[in-house]
Formats: sequence, C-alpha cells, structure tokens
Amino acid sequence: MKKTLSWLIWLDPLSIQDKLRNGPLARMGDHLRCRARGGLNIDFDVRDRVLGEKAFGLAAVAAPVSGINKELHGHIVADLSSAGKSILVEFGPHPSQQSGAALERTMSVTQLRDTGASPPVRPVTGQSLLDMKLAGLAITALTAYDYPTARLVDQASIDLILVGDSVGMAVLGYESTLPVTMEEMLHHTHAVARGVKRAFLVADMPFGSYHTSTDEALRNATRFIKESGAHAVKLEGGERRAGLVRRMTEAEISVVAHIGLTPQSIHRMSGYKVQGRSVEAIERLYTDAAALQDAGAVAIVLEGIPREVAAEITRRSTIPTIGIGAGPDCDGQILVFHDLFNLTFSAPAKFARRYADGAEFFANALGRYRADVAAHAFPADAESYHLSREVAAQLESNDQDGEGRSPDTDEKDASKIFDKLVAVGRD
Ligand code: KIV
Repeated sequence: MKKTLSWLIWLDPLSIQDKLRNGPLARMGDHLRCRARGGLNIDFDVRDRVLGEKAFGLAAVAAPVSGINKELHGHIVADLSSAGKSILVEFGPHPSQQSGAALERTMSVTQLRDTGASPPVRPVTGQSLLDMKLAGLAITALTAYDYPTARLVDQASIDLILVGDSVGMAVLGYESTLPVTMEEMLHHTHAVARGVKRAFLVADMPFGSYHTSTDEALRNATRFIKESGAHAVKLEGGERRAGLVRRMTEAEISVVAHIGLTPQSIHRMSGYKVQGRSVEAIERLYTDAAALQDAGAVAIVLEGIPREVAAEITRRSTIPTIGIGAGPDCDGQILVFHDLFNLTFSAPAKFARRYADGAEFFANALGRYRADVAAHAFPADAESYHLSREVAAQLESNDQDGEGRSPDTDEKDASKIFDKLVAVGRD
C-alpha cells in the first residue's frame, strides 16, 4: 500500500472561504500555494497524494511554515483529485474542538499519521454541499444503479450519487420512469449504498410513492433512509411539493428537490420538453425554487431549462443547484451514468456528453469472447483446474485394472473420484 504522510494546516475557515472567492489558492506545478493571513504563503507538495482521495492528501509542507501561529484555527484539507484537474479545499472546525478537547496551542502544522494506511474518507454531507456552493466549488454528481458502478463513481470522488428512477429506462428497459416501483428503487439503492463510502447518496422517490398522501410519502421516504441506506430522497415538483418537503425535513429526512423538466410529469408536459421558455413559466420556476428552499430542501435539481434561467435561480438560491440540461452556471452538474458511457442505445440528448464508448468496449470484448469459445480457444489450460499428481496416478491405475470389475465397484470408485474432483474444484 502506498505510504502517505498526512498533514493538517490550521487556518481560519472564514478567511479561507474569503480567499477562495478571491482566488488566492493556486496550483503551481506540483504545489498548491495558499496565501494565508499576514501575507504568509504555504506551499503544499501534492505529488505523493493518494489518487482519488479527498482527504488529508498532502504529502509534505514546504517552507515557510514557521509563521503559522495559534491564532489560526479550523482546518484546511487540500486535494487535487481527478489527476490534478481540480482543487478541492475543505474547511471545518479543528478536530480537537469537535471532540471537546483543548484547541491545539503549540503546533500549527501537525503530522497526523505515518502509518502507511490510507487517509480516512470524509463523507460528503448536505453541509459539505452547501460549503462547496459558498466556496464556489463545483459539485459533481452522477447516477448509479448497482454496486460496481457505485464503487467506481464513489472512487472517482463524485460528490453526490443519485439512484435515479432513470434506472427504469437505463437498466430495467421501461419506456419511461413511470412504472418504476418502490421495491425496485429500494433494491437498487441498497446495492448502491453498499458501494458508497464517500458520496452523498440520494434515492429518487418513484412516481406514485409520494403523490397519494403525505403519510404514505413519509412512510416511503423513511424506507429509503432506514432500509436502503440513502442519505436523502429526491422528489419532483415545484411549489406544490413544498408542504411535503417541509414535513419530510421535520421528520429528519433530507430532501433534494427537482424542478423544470420533471420526467414523472411526461404526460402533463406532453413529452420531454425544455421548460421555462416564457416569462410566465420562468416566474413560476423562480417561485418553485424559492418555495422548496424555504421548505428545507438541501439542494435542488434543475433539469431542462434555459441556461439564463438556471443561472438566475442559482444566484437567488441559498441552497446548491444541480443542473442537467440547465447550462454551466449551476452549483453542480449531474448526468445519467449510461449517457456518459454510450450505454443507452439511443442518440444522446443535447446536454449529455459521452466520455467513453462503453457500447463499443463491451461489443468488442463480447465478440472476442464468442470467437474464442467457438474456436475452443477459451478456456486455455492455464485457466483450467488440474488433478493432483496423486489423484491422477490413482485414476490411471484404476483404469488399468478396471477390466472385469463389477459395475457396482466401478460406481463406488466413480463416486470417490467425483468427490475428489469436487474438492479440487473448491480449492
Ligand atoms: O432519475 C434521474 O436520473 C434523475 C436525474 C436526471 C436528475 O432524476
């Protein structure tokens, strides 16, 4: 395992927020330069960080560090995830304050551990998403529907994973999201939860699960948290859902709202159409977003609306906005996993970007597998289990004096050999 030296640098979290806004954090080659109070520059060497970890990923602290003094508190954790393409700086209270212990007084730069172990994972929470909005750091979000993809997405340091009801179309082959059931959503969310260590995990409430009564909606939302390990639920609709969002929030269930093109309203909207095109519709979206925010939503998905409208909602909102087909000015972006990898068997929507051709990748591998099997080239000898020399010799000698034996003896021997083969197979 890679050896990691980890450090905490104590700084005032508020001043960091301010400095982030004014852009004093800069990447300089393999160094991250942070100008702290009193003109002090702290350079972090980031070469030895653990890839993909948004934790205490600093391998060394370059001079000068002597000017850091006890006035500085809170912590800054720097990470250049995505192979150095982005810088994430998290800030929060000093861990000793969290545990009630005395504030660190003498050491400003603390080597936390040199154990060779990976740094601890800091889970993303509703509060971290808000901190990211305040700090101007883009929130990354993606859907996942099963354990392996959840692991991949989580390990890529995507901040929010949505088990969308898009599972119906992307994975289950339905024509729309409408047939998706509670049981299907719970099943997929539970699988995803087992693969997630860091991301904020949101489960989509399927059509019909929150439309008939508040009590039933609360019961269903509770199941996502209690039975499948979600951190929050998402539901579609504007101002008319505000009462429900409030009730869920009061019941300690975090809610992500979703407005604009809401696929569960496909029939009311007469198809998947960009929303918010008229002045009246735009005003409606502003009212919807404000009502959901006031009701306690922790974030709001903006789907299929003009860039300008999403930008204005984002500017007005105190909660993070996460866009899909809503332009680049939202606080974060979400896409459907299968759109990223060309696994939808249809032309991509205008807003989706393909990052890899999964269909081509799988088709190629499947073709080669088929050809190998057809040509008896798979499995090879090295991919086969073998008898031990002892058993092989025994088999051979049985074969040699096998003639003239009663069928009964043959049957007993065959059964012994079968048992041995099963044992070898298990090994
Ligand atoms: O179900 C889903 O995947 C979604 C996203 C498109 C936001 O709701």
